[in-house]
This record gives sequence, structure tokens and C-alpha cells, in this order.
Amino acid sequence: MSGTCDLERAVMALRRGGLVAFPTETVYGLGADATDAGALTRLYAVKGRPADHPVIVHLGEAAVLDDWAVAVPPVARALAARFWPGPLTLVLEAADTVSRVATGGLATVGLRVPAHPVALELLAAFGGAVAAPSANRFGRVSPTTADAVRRDLGPDVDVVLDGGSCAVGVESTIVDVSGAEPRILRLGGVTADAIASVLGAPVAVGGTTRAPGTLAAHYAPDARVVVVEDEHDLGAAVAAVDPEDAVGVLALREVLGTVGLPDAATTLSAPATVEEYARVLYRALREADDLGIDVVVAVLPPPDGLGAAVADRLRRAAASGR
Ligand code: TXA
Ligand code: MG
Repeated sequence: MSGTCDLERAVMALRRGGLVAFPTETVYGLGADATDAGALTRLYAVKGRPADHPVIVHLGEAAVLDDWAVAVPPVARALAARFWPGPLTLVLEAADTVSRVATGGLATVGLRVPAHPVALELLAAFGGAVAAPSANRFGRVSPTTADAVRRDLGPDVDVVLDGGSCAVGVESTIVDVSGAEPRILRLGGVTADAIASVLGAPVAVGGTTRAPGTLAAHYAPDARVVVVEDEHDLGAAVAAVDPEDAVGVLALREVLGTVGLPDAATTLSAPATVEEYARVLYRALREADDLGIDVVVAVLPPPDGLGAAVADRLRRAAASGR
């Protein structure tokens, strides 16, 4: 875990235009000063991210929202009041303070207040806004531990703050509140039902805005990912894999208890709940690569709670065609 000394180094690094990886409750972020075009350009280069893909800007508290966004509608304030700090990103019309490098040239900005003590300490000590995509190279599995960040980004990051394993494990839910109707651009740590209960109406999911989290080929490990919709098809899915290939299985514990682990497959993880499935998902996909697994066969969880976000990430990983 990081101490006060690391925090001071991190703040200094941000002030001189450096890059700081820090924990959030969702995944680790790779941060730069959201007003510093030079630092942000380096951030995009290190991520290997196309310049037109916007990054999320992190704030220390909801009270500073109007410093970074303009024309904030009442629905945005209601969602911020209910879910911040927490795994919710609001897309709003950007204030001039936000560098247009962070917004990928868009007039809107994604803002969130993360619910992690280390992230909040960093943001409070820095005093500004920190633009931070997930701390992985573009198109790869997001990191949920400091170790995963170091392995991915190595010397390209100036300071890595260690806050342990991320409690949620999948990225924030992104809600675009800049248009006439709120719209969920990416499912994540806050469920669509929870958003709808604040808005008092169901909310549309999916959108056309530029969001790499919405690209089909995303969140992929080196191993090929095969998703199984119906748990009873697990055995057939494993049997269909080339016998030369090492197979790893990811499924709820209850599912493995019912249908059993097929012969010649390794259990990567058998989470007890959908929340645990979200928490272990990216770590399990990274471990699959470390173990030399060729094919990950994942039984999708039911779409309740975080199950919808888990299924979304697994489907995208499977669509990468690796
Ligand atoms: O949980 C999270 O959201 C993590 C942690 C670090 O906060 N961050 C994260 O960042 O997942 P990233 O860059 O990997 O994904 C950010 C997503 C992208 O899909 C991006 O396109 C979208 O947010 N986004 C950011 N600003 C946007 C905007 N103005 N309009 C539409 N989408 C936006
Ligand atoms: Mg990402």
C-alpha cells in the first residue's frame, strides 16, 4: 500500500505534467492533469489510444462539478447526489477549463468522483481534476491491482499508488446527460435499474458517441474467450476446443456445482455472487494469460445487478476474435 510520501510524489508528478496511476473502486486509472495538454498528449501516447477517444475526468467532490462542466441539467445533479463518490460517469457539456485533448476534441466531458480513499486523497491534495482512462494499454484488460499496472505500463508511468485490489472490478457506468434524454453509453458499477430509479423512468442503453469501452473488440486477454449463455452448454463448449489447447473456465460457483467442471479444464475462478464475478473478472483473464491458457470458456452470469456489466465485458472480449 502507498503512504503519505508516495502521495506527495504523485501530486508533484501531476503538477509537473507527469503520469500517475492510482486506484479507484472500479479499476486503476492512469492520471494526468486535465488542464495540461502536454501531459494529456503523453498519456494518450503511453496508452496507445487514438486522439479522438475521450478520457474520463476525475473530481475530488461533487461540489466542484460546475468548475468543469456547464449547463448541468437537474438530472445530472440528481444522479451525482445519489451516486458520487461512486462508479458513475456523467457526460456533460465541458467547461473551458477541461483541455480538449482530454475530451478527444468533443464539446462534452465525462466526469466522475471515484469512491476510493487513495483516489480522493490524491484529488484533494492535487486540488484540480485528473483525467484518467483505465491504466492499461489500449484495448487490453483493465488492471485491478497496482501490480497489474506496473506489469502493463512499466517505466512509462511516473508514480503508481497502491490501494490494493479494486472493490467493484469493472469500470464505471457512463450516462450521457448532455442530450435531450439521458442515455447509458456503457454498463458498469451502477446498474441500469439504479439509474432508472433516480430518473423515475427506464433509460436507454447504447449510443453512438465515441467510446472505446463500446468497441466490440475490447477488454481482451491474449487467450481466446468463448462465452456460454446457458450453463448446460459448458461441457459442449469445452469439448469443442482443440484438444491441444489449454482451457480455463470461469463460472459462478453454483453453476460449476450443478453442471460440474468438464475434464481437462482448469477453474480460473468460481465466484459465489455476481458482485464477486465482477471483482475477479479482469484478474482471472490476466491469470489465464499467465497460466498459458489458450481458451477461456466463460459462463455468463444472470443479468441481475453487476451481472449485466460482467456479461457485457465478456461478450466484448469474445468478440475480439483473438
Ligand atoms: O471506472 C472507470 O470509468 C475507469 C476509472 C479509472 O475511472 N476509467 C475508465 O476509463 O474506464 P476509460 O478511458 O478506459 O474509458 C472511459 C470511457 C471511454 O469509453 C470513453 O470514450 C468514455 O468513457 N467517455 C469519456 N468522455 C466521454 C464523452 N465526452 N462522451 C462519450 N464518452 C466519453
Ligand atoms: Mg479502458
